[in-house]
Amino acid sequence: MNEEVKRLLNEQINKELYSSYLYLSMADYYDYNNLDGFANWFYIQAQEEVDHAMLLRRYLLNNGEAIELEAIAKPDLVFNSFKDPLVGAYEHELFVTASINNIYEKAASVKDYRTMQFLDWFIQEQMEEEKNTDELIRKYELYAEESKGLYQLNQEFGARVYAPPTLVLD
Ligand SMILES: [Fe+2]
Repeated sequence: MNEEVKRLLNEQINKELYSSYLYLSMADYYDYNNLDGFANWFYIQAQEEVDHAMLLRRYLLNNGEAIELEAIAKPDLVFNSFKDPLVGAYEHELFVTASINNIYEKAASVKDYRTMQFLDWFIQEQMEEEKNTDELIRKYELYAEESKGLYQLNQEFGARVYAPPTLVLD
């Protein structure tokens, strides 16, 4: 595998694990503030991010590449309102999308068609992630400015269930 493509994929493992850590910090914030449904949504999101890291790990290993795990940074977003994590999540997904696009661009430039095909799933997934986190903000703005709406939105987010990724690597 091209050294730079390999380096970027390895680095993406860290970014996905950081994403998981960041979303866990959001789940912690909501749980602490008794919004267990919001916490559920972000706890599941944190699990999905670990799944993404494991897909990248497996892809590198399946291609005979070694993994080098790095330290995971402390999630240091400060939340001053219940809306803050929602905006933070959306902005973070835009960052992840740019990162995936950057790997794709490098893979394309060295004609690494296999990695491009592997990343197709992530590119589609990022569209979902951006849409989902944007929806959180818009629903919050629509319903949650008063307490009854916040209560109901908390119940809706509490109904989210974990689903494993649709991409499976042996
Ligand atoms: Fe992800």
